[in-house]
Amino acid sequence: MTIRDVNALETQALAERYKDSFSIGAALEPEHLEGRSADVVKFHFNSIVAENAMKAPNIQPQEGVFNFEETDRIVQFAKENQLELRFHTLVWHAEIPEWFTLDKNGQEMMEETDPLKREENKQLLLKRLEDHIRVIASRYREDIKYWDVVNEVIDENAGNSKKLRESFWYELTGTDYIKTAFLATRKYAGEDAKLFINEFNTEMEPKRSYLLELVKELMADGVPIDGIGHQSHYTIGWPPLQDIEESILLFSSFGLDNQITELDVSIYSSEPEKIYGSDDEIPEELLQEQAKYYGDLFELYEELDDQISSITFWGLADNRSWLNFRAQDLSNGNGKDAPFVFDSYYNVKPAFWAIVK
Ligand code: GLA
Repeated sequence: MTIRDVNALETQALAERYKDSFSIGAALEPEHLEGRSADVVKFHFNSIVAENAMKAPNIQPQEGVFNFEETDRIVQFAKENQLELRFHTLVWHAEIPEWFTLDKNGQEMMEETDPLKREENKQLLLKRLEDHIRVIASRYREDIKYWDVVNEVIDENAGNSKKLRESFWYELTGTDYIKTAFLATRKYAGEDAKLFINEFNTEMEPKRSYLLELVKELMADGVPIDGIGHQSHYTIGWPPLQDIEESILLFSSFGLDNQITELDVSIYSSEPEKIYGSDDEIPEELLQEQAKYYGDLFELYEELDDQISSITFWGLADNRSWLNFRAQDLSNGNGKDAPFVFDSYYNVKPAFWAIVK
């Protein structure tokens, strides 16, 4: 038996290993809630989030028509197994259902040039956003503690000086959509809910400074923000641990909680020379390098455990990840990535041993 043949269920549980530091979560699709994957979730994790089910197009595909089925199943599973829940995400510039973007006459709000009508559209949009949050947060307030209220609102390449992402939301409302979203979530999810602004590349300068400036400004304005969600989509060796540490310490020095919300460590760089097609093709050396990075990362997380309340992987095992779709694109079909600590067959990888040690 090689060490990679050890089944994920015959090891130490990740959540148990880190119980004194933070919760350990996984992003799930409804199909994960049965069979082998469900066993692995129950055994290793004490927190979950939906990879897609809670996004706006899935949960409110048409105005006033909510599809709670998948989220309900995830919530039910969490309750039955005493798992903490994160909600991802109430507002995002990507994946906005079309009905959100049309004015009362069915025209694209973005195309309106009359200032009075634009103001009307802005109010309509903020009302729709408030309603979206009211219905969802009221329904799940007893079940969900952590909320990604807005996702990816900073863009360091934006033309404006504060580097706010020039999304549909921003073009129509400025930063009012962010304020409305946080205030509504606080109002309907309650005082105990923990509200997060979720973002990628939070380790990098100058992006993290722009994010901090925005958060400080909003908080000074009375907007209730509890913490930063650091997506943490990494590759082996990137970003440097020092940048991660500085970022966590920076935000916590302003009283903010930190959660690692979408962790994965791709085996590929941004321009990979070779893409592998199956678990067996991936060289052992590469898995060892990944293990080293994962091990160092969790050592850092553990050192910073007063500043970090939760760590969520953006998936469960290598058989399913958004990065596999990317690898397929890069290889015209056959490629796969291997970003997690469990392989495609729910055996543990070298990275697993590195983070439980
Ligand atoms: C971002 C989003 C996630 C997920 C990933 C991959 O990180 O926050 O919800 O969709 O992109 O697509």
